[in-house]
Amino acid sequence: MDTIVSGMRPTGRLHLGHYFGALTNWLKLQADYRCYFFVADWHALTTDYATPQGINQNTIEMVMDWLSVGLDPAKAVVFRQSRVKEHAELHLLYSMIVPVPWLERNPTYKDQIKELIGKDLSTYGFLGYPVLQAADITMYKANKVPVGVDQAPHVELTREIVRRFNQVYTPIFPEPEVLLTETQKLPGLDGRKMSKSFGNAVMLSDSPKEIDQKLSKMITDPARVRRSDPGEPEKCPAFQFHKIYSTPEEIAEVSQGCRTAGIGCLDCKKIMIKHVVAQLAPITEKRAALEQRPQDVEDILLAGNRVAQHKASETMTEVREALGL
Ligand code: TRP
Ligand code: SF4
Repeated sequence: MDTIVSGMRPTGRLHLGHYFGALTNWLKLQADYRCYFFVADWHALTTDYATPQGINQNTIEMVMDWLSVGLDPAKAVVFRQSRVKEHAELHLLYSMIVPVPWLERNPTYKDQIKELIGKDLSTYGFLGYPVLQAADITMYKANKVPVGVDQAPHVELTREIVRRFNQVYTPIFPEPEVLLTETQKLPGLDGRKMSKSFGNAVMLSDSPKEIDQKLSKMITDPARVRRSDPGEPEKCPAFQFHKIYSTPEEIAEVSQGCRTAGIGCLDCKKIMIKHVVAQLAPITEKRAALEQRPQDVEDILLAGNRVAQHKASETMTEVREALGL
């Protein structure tokens, strides 16, 4: 059976973008592969080293969301990176064999430096981010790594590091492949990419009332200034929700209604809002139950940490042997 490894930085509560971008994929994979899903809390420090205070709480919040959507600790190993110290050791050993230009050339690195203006990214840790990621992936001898396109260069770098390690020492690691996540395009309330920092997200833990309020205010085709103005669904961010959530009949009905000004935007949105609310209801219910039992979440992580640590210590024994240490 192939092994899958993927991680998420602890950003706290997750939103629908995470759900369609990563989690639905993880849920499918946990049935068919040996999966390791972890909280990349050391990675969070690479961009936010000055504010580590939120990491513990954000870890719990995020794992609660994972469990609420159906990630199953009986099927996948769910753990926290910083609890498996072997990741740090392997990262250190890789850092000896990784040429700095490989890291400086990394497109994700260059993009982030441009995007995250105002943040101090001139650190050694941030440059070495993909080296730590390579340690995460290879620790469990992953064959496949499900990530979005933005992370593909990191997996590519992991492959290069693996080739180098296997060549310089002993071949013990498989070269992991990228499993590109087919993301369904779900925009935020303002039409931009859904993101917590833009304040345009529908959270997985939002109540039906919050979902209704947020989506009712979501922007639509700007051509529909008045109720009598016809619109074009493909230019409307709210219609992207219909494409994911509504039935083919409903999609046909609102498309036609939109183009002929036969339906108002609010009535149009009501149709998809009903589906979003119905989808999130069991998730928020499960979450409410977990919130009553935070110790259960801690226990799940503790158990996962132990399983991960066991595998990690086996790998590190091989690694130390390969180096003759
Ligand atoms: N860099 C990934 C992200 O920002 C998180 C991550 C850390 C990861 N280690 C990983 C993903 C290993 C896959 C495999 O989303
Ligand atoms: Fe968007 Fe529906 Fe309004 Fe058309 S009618 S602009 S699809 S919300």
